[in-house]
Amino acid sequence: MDSSETSLGKGSKEVSSGITSATRKAPLPKRESFARILSPEETEKLERDRTLVTEFRQLKLEEEAQKNWDLFYKRNSTNFFKDRHWTTREFEELTSCREFEDQKLTILEAGCGVGNCLFPLLEEDLNIFAYACDFSPRAVDYVKHNSLYDPERCKVFQCDLTKDDLLEHMPADSLDGVTLIFVLSAIHPDKMHLALQNIYKVLKPGKCVLFRDYGLYDHAMLRFKAGNKLGENFYVRQDGTRSYFFTDEFLAQLFRVTGYEEVVNEYVLRETVNRKEGLCVPRVFLQSKFRKPLKESCHDALAQDCEP
Ligand SMILES: C[S@@+](CC[C@H](N)C(=O)[O-])C[C@H]1O[C@@H](n2cnc3c(N)ncnc32)[C@H](O)[C@@H]1O
Repeated sequence: MDSSETSLGKGSKEVSSGITSATRKAPLPKRESFARILSPEETEKLERDRTLVTEFRQLKLEEEAQKNWDLFYKRNSTNFFKDRHWTTREFEELTSCREFEDQKLTILEAGCGVGNCLFPLLEEDLNIFAYACDFSPRAVDYVKHNSLYDPERCKVFQCDLTKDDLLEHMPADSLDGVTLIFVLSAIHPDKMHLALQNIYKVLKPGKCVLFRDYGLYDHAMLRFKAGNKLGENFYVRQDGTRSYFFTDEFLAQLFRVTGYEEVVNEYVLRETVNRKEGLCVPRVFLQSKFRKPLKESCHDALAQDCEP
């Protein structure tokens, strides 16, 4: 992974192409589940790359997922990702769900890393209390030792979202929002639903998970060399951390089967421009909002099987 994957590399600038699946002018006959058309060379490259990592190595990567992220933070300390100041701007839900001005909101930054999303959020909105968790003990320690960490406004704890019950740290149905930013892609696709179920229990009915992550055919996906493929749209980096690339359909289905309703689910296309190196690469992200319904009748059934 390099820092330009989820934020910008040194000297790089991210610009919007102005196209999202919601703003395409001519409606497509069938809604496509990808945001970017590949060149023939890119298509050929992906088609050629069919050999999967051995099952033995795949099991080891799963067993060592936490260790590999912890080593990532040992190597990079807090210097890797840039602060994400776009969160309150783009996920205005976080602040607009207030019923009255100055209403205190309680949120969870799930998979907080070293706090690149958490601290800008706390700085920008003084009426937020944030829980934050990550399964890397080092990341949690970095958050605790950040000069902006104030236990009156924030509680960080170690937790594997796919295993450890969030109810041990906060009451059921208590959160006004959960941010899930470039975290689900790091979890094995077979276990993603476990993280979503865990989060479901602590969200207030009617409140949302705010999601942003890699979209199918993002530049980071096309950069993987042969030998790093784990499964469909799922790859492993040199350092053993893994990354899934989402289609809007896959993500919607994942949330739906866990009981959430779709509010927004769209691709965001960007270009990362590095003028110094004369590089301009296409980025594809998926930015979405899924709500826990007010009525829980759909809890563990497919949403489409339920009465509207
Ligand atoms: C790309 S980083 C994103 C960090 C942060 N959300 C941000 O926006 O800067 C992904 C994070 O997910 C964490 N993570 C991966 N799998 C996890 C799991 N099962 N439970 C909790 N955290 C996990 C990793 O330790 C890592 O800190």
